Amino acid sequence: MSILKVEKAKAFDEVISDIAADKSISHRCAVFSLLSDKTSLVRNYLQAEDTLCTLNIIKSLGAKTENENGILHITPPAKIIEPPLVLDCGNSGTAMRLLMGFLSGIEGFFVLHGDKYLASRPMKRLAEPLKKIGANIDGRQNGNLSPICIRGTKLKPFDYESPIASAQVKSALILSALRLNAPSFFSEPELSRDHTERMLRGMGANIECKNGKIIIHPIKKPLYPLDITVPADPSGAFFFAVAAAIVPNSKITLKNVLLNKTRMEAFKILQQMGTQIEFVQKEDKYESIGDIIVKYAPLKAIKVSENISWLIDELPALSIAFACAYGISSVRNAKELRVKESDRISTVVKNLKLCGINVREYEDGYDIEGGIFKKVVFNSFGDHRIAMSFAIASLLCGGVIEDTDCINTSFPNFIDILKKISTAENLP
Ligand code: S3P
Repeated sequence: MSILKVEKAKAFDEVISDIAADKSISHRCAVFSLLSDKTSLVRNYLQAEDTLCTLNIIKSLGAKTENENGILHITPPAKIIEPPLVLDCGNSGTAMRLLMGFLSGIEGFFVLHGDKYLASRPMKRLAEPLKKIGANIDGRQNGNLSPICIRGTKLKPFDYESPIASAQVKSALILSALRLNAPSFFSEPELSRDHTERMLRGMGANIECKNGKIIIHPIKKPLYPLDITVPADPSGAFFFAVAAAIVPNSKITLKNVLLNKTRMEAFKILQQMGTQIEFVQKEDKYESIGDIIVKYAPLKAIKVSENISWLIDELPALSIAFACAYGISSVRNAKELRVKESDRISTVVKNLKLCGINVREYEDGYDIEGGIFKKVVFNSFGDHRIAMSFAIASLLCGGVIEDTDCINTSFPNFIDILKKISTAENLP
Protein backbone atom coordinates (compact mmCIF):
# COMPACT_ATOMS: atom_id res chain seq x y z
CA MET A 1 0.00 0.00 0.00
CA SER A 2 1.59 3.33 -1.08
CA ILE A 3 1.71 6.31 1.28
CA LEU A 4 2.21 9.81 -0.12
CA LYS A 5 3.80 12.63 1.89
CA VAL A 6 3.20 16.19 0.65
CA GLU A 7 4.94 19.30 2.06
CA LYS A 8 3.40 22.74 2.42
CA ALA A 9 3.79 24.62 -0.90
CA LYS A 10 5.20 28.10 -1.56
CA ALA A 11 3.70 30.37 -4.24
CA PHE A 12 4.24 28.88 -7.72
CA ASP A 13 3.84 29.84 -11.38
CA GLU A 14 3.88 26.74 -13.61
CA VAL A 15 2.84 25.65 -17.08
CA ILE A 16 1.57 22.05 -17.13
CA SER A 17 1.45 20.29 -20.51
CA ASP A 18 1.16 16.69 -19.34
CA ILE A 19 -2.18 16.41 -17.52
CA ALA A 20 -3.33 12.82 -18.17
CA ALA A 21 -5.61 12.25 -21.19
CA ASP A 22 -9.36 12.36 -20.73
CA LYS A 23 -10.64 9.13 -19.19
CA SER A 24 -14.22 9.32 -20.51
CA ILE A 25 -13.09 9.92 -24.09
CA SER A 26 -10.38 7.21 -23.91
CA HIS A 27 -12.88 4.54 -22.76
CA ARG A 28 -15.19 5.57 -25.59
CA CYS A 29 -12.39 5.41 -28.19
CA ALA A 30 -11.76 1.77 -27.26
CA VAL A 31 -15.42 0.68 -27.27
CA PHE A 32 -16.59 2.78 -30.25
CA SER A 33 -13.75 1.54 -32.48
CA LEU A 34 -15.67 -1.80 -32.50
CA LEU A 35 -18.49 -0.08 -34.42
CA SER A 36 -16.33 0.45 -37.50
CA ASP A 37 -14.84 -2.05 -39.95
CA LYS A 38 -11.64 -0.03 -40.39
CA THR A 39 -8.68 0.85 -38.17
CA SER A 40 -9.23 3.73 -35.74
CA LEU A 41 -6.29 6.03 -34.93
CA VAL A 42 -6.10 7.36 -31.38
CA ARG A 43 -3.39 9.77 -30.21
CA ASN A 44 -2.80 10.31 -26.49
CA TYR A 45 -4.97 7.38 -25.30
CA LEU A 46 -4.97 7.43 -21.47
CA GLN A 47 -2.33 4.97 -20.22
CA ALA A 48 -3.99 4.40 -16.82
CA GLU A 49 -5.30 1.23 -15.18
CA ASP A 50 -8.99 1.92 -15.92
CA THR A 51 -8.59 2.62 -19.62
CA LEU A 52 -5.98 -0.13 -20.12
CA CYS A 53 -8.59 -2.57 -18.77
CA THR A 54 -11.01 -1.41 -21.48
CA LEU A 55 -8.33 -1.85 -24.11
CA ASN A 56 -7.65 -5.40 -22.86
CA ILE A 57 -11.38 -6.13 -22.99
CA ILE A 58 -11.75 -5.08 -26.61
CA LYS A 59 -8.72 -7.25 -27.41
CA SER A 60 -10.48 -10.21 -25.73
CA LEU A 61 -13.44 -9.43 -27.99
CA GLY A 62 -11.18 -9.78 -31.05
CA ALA A 63 -9.77 -6.26 -31.69
CA LYS A 64 -6.08 -5.89 -32.60
CA THR A 65 -4.15 -2.96 -31.19
CA GLU A 66 -0.77 -1.61 -32.21
CA ASN A 67 1.23 1.36 -31.05
CA GLU A 68 3.05 3.12 -33.89
CA ASN A 69 4.99 6.30 -33.06
CA GLY A 70 2.73 7.01 -30.12
CA ILE A 71 -0.45 6.49 -32.18
CA LEU A 72 -2.75 3.70 -31.03
CA HIS A 73 -4.15 1.77 -34.00
CA ILE A 74 -7.30 -0.21 -33.14
CA THR A 75 -8.48 -2.71 -35.75
CA PRO A 76 -11.91 -4.19 -34.96
CA PRO A 77 -12.69 -7.89 -35.56
CA ALA A 78 -15.02 -8.84 -38.42
CA LYS A 79 -17.22 -10.50 -35.75
CA ILE A 80 -17.04 -10.08 -31.96
CA ILE A 81 -15.42 -13.14 -30.37
CA GLU A 82 -17.08 -14.93 -27.45
CA PRO A 83 -14.23 -14.60 -24.92
CA PRO A 84 -13.19 -17.72 -22.96
CA LEU A 85 -12.31 -15.64 -19.88
CA VAL A 86 -14.21 -13.07 -17.82
CA LEU A 87 -13.76 -9.43 -18.86
CA ASP A 88 -11.94 -7.42 -16.18
CA CYS A 89 -13.20 -3.82 -15.84
CA GLY A 90 -10.86 -3.10 -12.88
CA ASN A 91 -12.14 -0.07 -10.95
CA SER A 92 -14.10 1.34 -13.87
CA GLY A 93 -17.87 1.87 -13.74
CA THR A 94 -17.69 3.48 -17.20
CA ALA A 95 -16.14 0.35 -18.73
CA MET A 96 -18.65 -1.98 -17.10
CA ARG A 97 -21.73 0.08 -17.95
CA LEU A 98 -20.79 0.97 -21.54
CA LEU A 99 -19.97 -2.67 -22.22
CA MET A 100 -23.25 -3.86 -20.68
CA GLY A 101 -25.07 -1.76 -23.28
CA PHE A 102 -22.82 -2.77 -26.14
CA LEU A 103 -22.68 -6.51 -25.42
CA SER A 104 -26.40 -7.01 -24.62
CA GLY A 105 -27.19 -6.98 -28.32
CA ILE A 106 -24.19 -9.03 -29.50
CA GLU A 107 -24.40 -12.80 -30.03
CA GLY A 108 -22.42 -14.64 -27.33
CA PHE A 109 -21.91 -15.06 -23.58
CA PHE A 110 -19.96 -12.42 -21.67
CA VAL A 111 -19.07 -11.96 -17.99
CA LEU A 112 -17.98 -8.53 -16.71
CA HIS A 113 -16.29 -8.23 -13.34
CA GLY A 114 -14.14 -5.71 -11.48
CA ASP A 115 -12.33 -4.92 -8.23
CA LYS A 116 -13.91 -4.88 -4.75
CA TYR A 117 -14.96 -1.21 -5.14
CA LEU A 118 -16.69 -1.77 -8.48
CA ALA A 119 -18.35 -4.89 -7.04
CA SER A 120 -20.43 -2.69 -4.72
CA ARG A 121 -21.58 -0.14 -7.32
CA PRO A 122 -25.18 -0.30 -8.63
CA MET A 123 -25.73 -1.76 -12.09
CA LYS A 124 -29.54 -1.94 -11.76
CA ARG A 125 -29.80 1.55 -13.28
CA LEU A 126 -28.79 -0.10 -16.53
CA ALA A 127 -29.71 -3.77 -16.06
CA GLU A 128 -33.39 -2.78 -15.57
CA PRO A 129 -33.92 -0.73 -18.76
CA LEU A 130 -31.87 -3.24 -20.74
CA LYS A 131 -33.92 -6.19 -19.41
CA LYS A 132 -37.12 -4.32 -20.40
CA ILE A 133 -35.98 -4.31 -24.03
CA GLY A 134 -35.20 -8.03 -23.94
CA ALA A 135 -31.62 -8.22 -22.67
CA ASN A 136 -30.50 -11.39 -20.83
CA ILE A 137 -28.55 -9.89 -17.94
CA ASP A 138 -27.90 -11.37 -14.54
CA GLY A 139 -25.63 -10.81 -11.59
CA ARG A 140 -25.71 -10.72 -7.81
CA GLN A 141 -28.88 -9.09 -6.38
CA ASN A 142 -30.84 -9.96 -9.50
CA GLY A 143 -28.44 -8.18 -11.85
CA ASN A 144 -27.66 -5.16 -9.67
CA LEU A 145 -24.11 -6.14 -8.66
CA SER A 146 -21.20 -7.60 -10.58
CA PRO A 147 -20.10 -10.07 -11.77
CA ILE A 148 -22.56 -9.30 -14.55
CA CYS A 149 -23.41 -12.10 -17.00
CA ILE A 150 -24.81 -11.29 -20.41
CA ARG A 151 -26.18 -13.67 -23.02
CA GLY A 152 -26.39 -11.35 -26.04
CA THR A 153 -29.66 -11.34 -27.93
CA LYS A 154 -31.84 -9.30 -30.29
CA LEU A 155 -33.17 -6.23 -28.43
CA LYS A 156 -36.29 -4.12 -28.99
CA PRO A 157 -36.33 -0.36 -29.78
CA PHE A 158 -37.18 1.79 -26.74
CA ASP A 159 -38.40 5.13 -25.45
CA TYR A 160 -36.66 5.45 -22.07
CA GLU A 161 -36.88 8.36 -19.62
CA SER A 162 -33.90 7.96 -17.31
CA PRO A 163 -34.59 9.06 -13.71
CA ILE A 164 -30.90 10.03 -13.31
CA ALA A 165 -28.58 12.25 -15.36
CA SER A 166 -25.92 9.63 -16.02
CA ALA A 167 -23.69 9.65 -19.10
CA GLN A 168 -22.86 6.03 -18.45
CA VAL A 169 -26.54 4.99 -18.59
CA LYS A 170 -27.15 7.23 -21.63
CA SER A 171 -24.07 5.91 -23.48
CA ALA A 172 -24.89 2.27 -22.77
CA LEU A 173 -28.44 2.64 -24.04
CA ILE A 174 -27.28 4.53 -27.14
CA LEU A 175 -24.84 1.68 -27.85
CA SER A 176 -27.63 -0.90 -27.49
CA ALA A 177 -29.92 1.13 -29.79
CA LEU A 178 -27.50 1.41 -32.71
CA ARG A 179 -28.04 -2.21 -33.82
CA LEU A 180 -31.86 -2.27 -33.71
CA ASN A 181 -34.27 -2.14 -36.64
CA ALA A 182 -36.11 1.08 -35.70
CA PRO A 183 -35.22 4.35 -33.92
CA SER A 184 -35.06 4.51 -30.12
CA PHE A 185 -35.60 7.51 -27.84
CA PHE A 186 -33.80 8.53 -24.65
CA SER A 187 -34.22 11.45 -22.24
CA GLU A 188 -32.59 12.42 -18.95
CA PRO A 189 -33.49 14.96 -16.22
CA GLU A 190 -30.54 17.21 -17.16
CA LEU A 191 -27.92 16.89 -19.87
CA SER A 192 -25.06 14.64 -18.73
CA ARG A 193 -21.64 14.73 -20.43
CA ASP A 194 -22.23 14.36 -24.16
CA HIS A 195 -19.04 12.78 -25.54
CA THR A 196 -20.91 9.70 -26.77
CA GLU A 197 -23.30 11.71 -28.93
CA ARG A 198 -20.48 13.89 -30.30
CA MET A 199 -18.07 11.06 -31.06
CA LEU A 200 -20.66 8.75 -32.62
CA ARG A 201 -21.97 11.59 -34.80
CA GLY A 202 -18.34 12.23 -35.84
CA MET A 203 -18.19 8.54 -36.85
CA GLY A 204 -21.31 8.95 -39.02
CA ALA A 205 -24.10 7.77 -36.69
CA ASN A 206 -27.44 9.53 -36.94
CA ILE A 207 -28.16 10.73 -33.40
CA GLU A 208 -30.58 13.64 -33.20
CA CYS A 209 -31.64 15.77 -30.29
CA LYS A 210 -35.24 17.11 -30.47
CA ASN A 211 -37.17 18.79 -27.64
CA GLY A 212 -34.82 17.37 -25.02
CA LYS A 213 -35.07 13.82 -26.42
CA ILE A 214 -32.21 11.96 -28.04
CA ILE A 215 -33.29 9.96 -31.10
CA ILE A 216 -30.94 7.12 -31.98
CA HIS A 217 -31.30 5.82 -35.53
CA PRO A 218 -29.99 2.30 -36.20
CA ILE A 219 -26.76 2.12 -38.17
CA LYS A 220 -27.14 0.57 -41.60
CA LYS A 221 -23.42 0.02 -42.25
CA PRO A 222 -20.24 0.07 -40.12
CA LEU A 223 -19.31 3.56 -38.85
CA TYR A 224 -16.26 5.52 -40.01
CA PRO A 225 -13.19 4.82 -37.88
CA LEU A 226 -12.05 7.36 -35.29
CA ASP A 227 -9.13 9.67 -35.99
CA ILE A 228 -8.73 11.55 -32.75
CA THR A 229 -6.28 13.13 -30.31
CA VAL A 230 -7.57 12.71 -26.76
CA PRO A 231 -7.31 16.07 -24.94
CA ALA A 232 -6.15 16.50 -21.35
CA ASP A 233 -8.77 15.50 -18.78
CA PRO A 234 -10.48 18.54 -17.21
CA SER A 235 -11.20 16.43 -14.11
CA GLY A 236 -7.43 15.82 -13.75
CA ALA A 237 -6.57 19.44 -14.58
CA PHE A 238 -9.03 20.60 -11.92
CA PHE A 239 -6.84 19.28 -9.05
CA PHE A 240 -4.12 21.71 -10.13
CA ALA A 241 -6.63 24.53 -10.71
CA VAL A 242 -7.61 24.10 -7.04
CA ALA A 243 -3.92 24.07 -6.06
CA ALA A 244 -3.45 27.51 -7.68
CA ALA A 245 -6.73 28.72 -6.17
CA ILE A 246 -5.71 27.92 -2.58
CA VAL A 247 -1.93 28.58 -2.43
CA PRO A 248 -1.60 32.39 -2.14
CA ASN A 249 -0.03 34.25 -5.10
CA SER A 250 0.11 31.17 -7.34
CA LYS A 251 -0.66 30.78 -11.01
CA ILE A 252 -0.97 27.70 -13.23
CA THR A 253 -1.45 27.26 -16.98
CA LEU A 254 -3.08 23.96 -17.92
CA LYS A 255 -2.45 23.12 -21.59
CA ASN A 256 -4.70 21.43 -24.17
CA VAL A 257 -7.57 20.63 -21.85
CA LEU A 258 -11.00 19.44 -22.99
CA LEU A 259 -13.31 22.50 -22.71
CA ASN A 260 -16.68 20.75 -23.27
CA LYS A 261 -19.26 22.76 -21.29
CA THR A 262 -20.60 19.61 -19.56
CA ARG A 263 -17.13 19.24 -17.94
CA MET A 264 -16.35 22.91 -17.14
CA GLU A 265 -18.83 23.58 -14.35
CA ALA A 266 -16.33 23.15 -11.48
CA PHE A 267 -14.00 25.72 -13.09
CA LYS A 268 -17.01 28.08 -13.39
CA ILE A 269 -17.82 27.60 -9.70
CA LEU A 270 -14.21 28.32 -8.73
CA GLN A 271 -14.40 31.47 -10.87
CA GLN A 272 -17.59 32.58 -9.07
CA MET A 273 -15.80 32.01 -5.76
CA GLY A 274 -13.22 34.63 -6.77
CA THR A 275 -10.40 32.72 -8.54
CA GLN A 276 -9.22 34.38 -11.76
CA ILE A 277 -9.69 31.89 -14.61
CA GLU A 278 -9.16 32.40 -18.32
CA PHE A 279 -10.16 29.87 -21.00
CA VAL A 280 -8.27 30.06 -24.33
CA GLN A 281 -9.93 27.87 -26.97
CA LYS A 282 -7.51 26.45 -29.57
CA GLU A 283 -9.52 23.91 -31.60
CA ASP A 284 -13.02 22.49 -32.00
CA LYS A 285 -13.23 19.16 -33.95
CA TYR A 286 -15.06 16.39 -32.06
CA GLU A 287 -14.68 18.58 -28.97
CA SER A 288 -13.56 22.09 -27.91
CA ILE A 289 -9.95 22.07 -26.60
CA GLY A 290 -7.73 24.82 -25.17
CA ASP A 291 -5.66 26.21 -22.28
CA ILE A 292 -6.94 27.17 -18.85
CA ILE A 293 -5.05 29.82 -16.86
CA VAL A 294 -5.80 29.93 -13.15
CA LYS A 295 -4.59 32.68 -10.75
CA TYR A 296 -4.95 32.84 -6.99
CA ALA A 297 -7.40 35.31 -5.40
CA PRO A 298 -9.14 35.07 -1.99
CA LEU A 299 -12.11 32.68 -2.12
CA LYS A 300 -15.65 33.34 -0.93
CA ALA A 301 -18.24 30.65 -0.11
CA ILE A 302 -20.84 29.48 -2.65
CA LYS A 303 -23.97 27.30 -2.84
CA VAL A 304 -24.04 24.55 -5.47
CA SER A 305 -27.24 22.63 -6.29
CA GLU A 306 -27.65 22.78 -10.10
CA ASN A 307 -25.95 21.11 -13.07
CA ILE A 308 -24.55 18.59 -10.61
CA SER A 309 -23.75 16.02 -13.29
CA TRP A 310 -21.46 18.63 -14.91
CA LEU A 311 -19.17 18.69 -11.86
CA ILE A 312 -19.85 15.40 -10.12
CA ASP A 313 -16.26 14.12 -10.51
CA GLU A 314 -14.75 17.44 -9.39
CA LEU A 315 -16.77 17.83 -6.16
CA PRO A 316 -14.13 16.21 -3.90
CA ALA A 317 -11.46 18.67 -5.17
CA LEU A 318 -13.94 21.56 -5.08
CA SER A 319 -14.64 20.74 -1.43
CA ILE A 320 -10.98 21.59 -0.68
CA ALA A 321 -11.56 25.07 -2.18
CA PHE A 322 -14.75 25.37 -0.06
CA ALA A 323 -12.71 24.58 3.05
CA CYS A 324 -10.40 27.53 2.20
CA ALA A 325 -13.18 30.02 1.39
CA TYR A 326 -14.62 32.75 3.59
CA GLY A 327 -18.05 31.55 4.83
CA ILE A 328 -20.12 28.36 4.56
CA SER A 329 -20.38 26.65 1.17
CA SER A 330 -23.00 24.02 0.45
CA VAL A 331 -23.62 21.20 -2.02
CA ARG A 332 -27.10 19.66 -2.51
CA ASN A 333 -28.79 17.35 -5.06
CA ALA A 334 -25.57 15.35 -5.21
CA LYS A 335 -26.76 11.95 -3.93
CA GLU A 336 -24.95 10.33 -6.88
CA LEU A 337 -21.70 11.05 -5.00
CA ARG A 338 -22.62 8.19 -2.68
CA VAL A 339 -22.26 5.57 -5.45
CA LYS A 340 -18.95 6.62 -6.99
CA GLU A 341 -15.60 4.83 -6.44
CA SER A 342 -16.29 5.47 -2.72
CA ASP A 343 -19.23 7.10 -0.95
CA ARG A 344 -17.75 10.52 -1.69
CA ILE A 345 -20.10 12.42 0.65
CA SER A 346 -18.90 10.35 3.57
CA THR A 347 -15.20 10.18 2.55
CA VAL A 348 -14.93 13.96 1.92
CA VAL A 349 -16.71 14.72 5.22
CA LYS A 350 -14.53 12.26 7.22
CA ASN A 351 -11.25 13.65 5.88
CA LEU A 352 -12.25 17.31 6.28
CA LYS A 353 -13.39 16.71 9.88
CA LEU A 354 -10.09 14.98 10.57
CA CYS A 355 -8.11 18.10 9.68
CA GLY A 356 -10.29 20.39 11.77
CA ILE A 357 -12.73 21.81 9.21
CA ASN A 358 -16.39 22.28 10.25
CA VAL A 359 -18.55 20.11 8.00
CA ARG A 360 -22.17 19.00 8.13
CA GLU A 361 -23.24 15.90 6.22
CA TYR A 362 -26.60 15.57 4.42
CA GLU A 363 -28.01 12.64 2.47
CA ASP A 364 -27.47 14.56 -0.80
CA GLY A 365 -24.46 16.76 0.00
CA TYR A 366 -22.65 18.77 2.67
CA ASP A 367 -22.01 22.20 4.20
CA ILE A 368 -18.35 23.18 4.57
CA GLU A 369 -17.15 26.17 6.59
CA GLY A 370 -13.84 27.71 5.51
CA GLY A 371 -11.12 27.24 8.15
CA ILE A 372 -7.50 26.40 8.85
CA PHE A 373 -6.23 22.89 7.97
CA LYS A 374 -4.38 20.84 10.60
CA LYS A 375 -1.55 18.56 9.42
CA VAL A 376 -2.98 15.00 9.57
CA VAL A 377 -2.86 11.54 7.97
CA PHE A 378 -5.68 11.21 5.42
CA ASN A 379 -7.19 7.98 4.09
CA SER A 380 -7.99 7.68 0.38
CA PHE A 381 -10.59 4.95 1.05
CA GLY A 382 -9.20 3.38 -2.14
CA ASP A 383 -10.69 6.21 -4.23
CA HIS A 384 -8.37 7.99 -6.70
CA ARG A 385 -10.20 11.34 -6.55
CA ILE A 386 -10.19 11.36 -2.73
CA ALA A 387 -6.44 10.58 -2.69
CA MET A 388 -5.66 13.41 -5.15
CA SER A 389 -8.02 15.95 -3.52
CA PHE A 390 -6.37 15.52 -0.11
CA ALA A 391 -2.89 15.60 -1.66
CA ILE A 392 -3.90 19.07 -2.92
CA ALA A 393 -5.27 20.02 0.54
CA SER A 394 -1.89 19.01 1.97
CA LEU A 395 -0.25 21.83 -0.03
CA LEU A 396 -1.58 24.20 2.65
CA CYS A 397 -0.12 22.59 5.77
CA GLY A 398 1.68 19.41 4.77
CA GLY A 399 0.03 16.01 5.06
CA VAL A 400 0.22 12.29 4.49
CA ILE A 401 -2.26 10.32 2.37
CA GLU A 402 -2.54 6.57 2.89
CA ASP A 403 -3.46 4.06 0.18
CA THR A 404 -2.57 6.09 -2.92
CA ASP A 405 -2.07 3.26 -5.44
CA CYS A 406 -5.60 4.05 -6.64
CA ILE A 407 -4.25 7.25 -8.28
CA ASN A 408 -2.97 4.96 -11.06
CA THR A 409 -6.53 4.17 -12.13
CA SER A 410 -6.88 7.60 -13.78
CA PHE A 411 -3.78 9.83 -13.40
CA PRO A 412 -0.48 7.89 -13.16
CA ASN A 413 1.73 11.01 -13.48
CA PHE A 414 -0.22 13.03 -10.86
CA ILE A 415 2.63 12.86 -8.30
CA ASP A 416 5.23 13.92 -10.92
CA ILE A 417 3.18 17.05 -11.63
CA LEU A 418 2.61 17.65 -7.91
CA LYS A 419 6.40 17.64 -7.46
CA LYS A 420 6.61 20.73 -9.71
CA ILE A 421 4.72 22.75 -7.10
CA SER A 422 5.74 21.09 -3.82
CA THR A 423 7.91 18.39 -2.30
CA ALA A 424 6.02 15.12 -2.56
CA GLU A 425 7.34 11.60 -2.05
CA ASN A 426 6.07 8.07 -1.70
CA LEU A 427 7.01 6.79 1.77
CA PRO A 428 8.50 3.29 2.00
C1 S3P B 1 -18.55 9.08 -16.83
C2 S3P B 1 -19.74 9.55 -16.34
C3 S3P B 1 -19.94 9.93 -14.95
C4 S3P B 1 -18.62 10.13 -14.22
C5 S3P B 1 -17.63 9.05 -14.52
C6 S3P B 1 -17.35 8.98 -16.01
C7 S3P B 1 -18.49 8.70 -18.26
O1 S3P B 1 -20.68 8.93 -14.28
O2 S3P B 1 -18.84 10.22 -12.83
O3 S3P B 1 -16.40 9.30 -13.83
O4 S3P B 1 -17.38 8.58 -18.80
O5 S3P B 1 -19.55 8.53 -18.86
P1 S3P B 1 -22.30 8.84 -14.40
O6 S3P B 1 -22.61 8.88 -15.82
O7 S3P B 1 -22.70 7.57 -13.77
O8 S3P B 1 -22.80 10.02 -13.64
